[in-house]
Amino acid sequence: MISPSRSKTWQKLASHYLNLHQNGTTVSKLCNNDAQRFENYQVKIDGVLLDYSKNFVSQQSLSLLRDLAKEAKLSDAIKAMFRGDKLNTTEKRSVLHVALRTPLVDADPRYNADVQACLEQMSGFVKRVHDGLWKGYTGQAITDVVNIGIGGSDLGPAMAYAALQRWKIAHIDTHFVSNLDPSHMHACIDSLDPATTLFIVTSKSFSTLETRQNAELARKWFLASSGSKTHLDKHFVAVTSNIEKACEFGIAQENIFPMWDWVGGRYSLWSAVGLSIALGLGMETFRQLLNGARIVDEHFRDAPFEANIPVIMGLQAVWYSDFVGANSQAILPYSQELALFPAFLQQLEMESLGKSVEIDGSRLLVPSGPIVWGSAGTNGQHSFHQFLHQGTHYIPADFIGVVTPPYPDDADQHNLLLANCFSQSQALMEGKSQKEAFHELVAQGMDEAQAYKLAKHKVIPGNKPSNTLLLDSLCPQTLGSLVAIYEHKVFVESVIWNINAFDQWGVELGKQLSEKLSSALNSRAPCVAFDPSTNGLINYCRTQND
Ligand code: F6P
Repeated sequence: MISPSRSKTWQKLASHYLNLHQNGTTVSKLCNNDAQRFENYQVKIDGVLLDYSKNFVSQQSLSLLRDLAKEAKLSDAIKAMFRGDKLNTTEKRSVLHVALRTPLVDADPRYNADVQACLEQMSGFVKRVHDGLWKGYTGQAITDVVNIGIGGSDLGPAMAYAALQRWKIAHIDTHFVSNLDPSHMHACIDSLDPATTLFIVTSKSFSTLETRQNAELARKWFLASSGSKTHLDKHFVAVTSNIEKACEFGIAQENIFPMWDWVGGRYSLWSAVGLSIALGLGMETFRQLLNGARIVDEHFRDAPFEANIPVIMGLQAVWYSDFVGANSQAILPYSQELALFPAFLQQLEMESLGKSVEIDGSRLLVPSGPIVWGSAGTNGQHSFHQFLHQGTHYIPADFIGVVTPPYPDDADQHNLLLANCFSQSQALMEGKSQKEAFHELVAQGMDEAQAYKLAKHKVIPGNKPSNTLLLDSLCPQTLGSLVAIYEHKVFVESVIWNINAFDQWGVELGKQLSEKLSSALNSRAPCVAFDPSTNGLINYCRTQND
């Protein structure tokens, strides 16, 4: 692979950006000077429309970005992923989350077989729980499911469960506990009945501190009421690749659902990691989610780059990070049901793209993935949108809207929501000039001298780019598509930057240090082993707790 900044097209893109900038091009001019801009800058797949007409890109920018993708051999990389090549080079692993939802043609057939067997195991289990045939230790059916996991073993299922509440199985409540803070577990279990609660310990490694501790806490709570370890297997199941550790914990081998080393944690909601989704929302809903992702897998694999949603979005992300100078990306779902989507994307994007070396270990010479943040509109409009409109940072935004109202009786209110979504992207693009602000104030009756002063504060620079992703409706299929779009977008970025999107060595150091620090916190002797700041913090807590 060629280092991105050493590719022939890199310099062309840099000069192209300068030209656009110097000749006064703005997003608004690009958009308003082309009556067909909306038609020419959109891609529609089943249930999802990407409108990228409000971006700081011309046809020439897009063509150069596609050249960059060709130089980076993006097509070969996509084929390699679907073939099961070990693209996660530092861990020597394939990255086959696509196999979880799309039958693979060119890869080893064992992947398809493993996935089908897992789906059958999940389906049988879910049916028994839903039908009340899976009994707790008192002979009662399960009413509450608690997923214990963190990161990829929590964020995806929790987000999907929240987003698809309209598909909830009426007699099962599902909960998600992730934080090491015991208050998280207590907030969940303190109102539950151990006799009707089922815990899913979801951890690929079965050694993550948070999950291990929370599972122990749940087991202690359960044993305090059931009184016997013999009942554990009726109330604890696991999703893991570490069968030995799960068995040691007390989970019966037949109640362990597989995770494979060829699926990364943050790409795993499609595997048995989604068991909480299937239990909470039904197996059919889970299959529809997979179906939505399959639609995008096939689109990503087969569509030409110019009409390929993840490719377009991935290349745009490179454009904004490396040529336009953005280091942040806002994710703005105009749907309360998608409120957890920005948090899910934070892990997907930032754990995947937060890298500073290329595949061969050499230093990456250009900025990689941006900071990803956001929250559900319209709430964000009353907190951080001020920063987007008038702050000094340049922040591309992805707006996500839903066309069909989830509650048809409240269609008018839903239309207000959509109007706010579209007006925000319009305001970001168009802004407001000092002259416009001045005339507005004078028209409202303000005297000219005052209006002149105040108008300066009312200027909104505009020229801020955005995408709008419109889901025909928010349903399991379109949610699956939405997530898969971002997964593949991240892959495109990683290929251009020539980085490994599938490892996460950066999280290791903190884990190692926390073990040493926790023994110091538990010790009675004053801590002198670390730096003065860390010693000070530890000693302060030790003495306060004495
Ligand atoms: O934060 C590091 C990480 O390894 C994530 O990549 C992963 O999703 C999470 O921890 C949980 O890991 P596990 O499923 O092994 O408990």
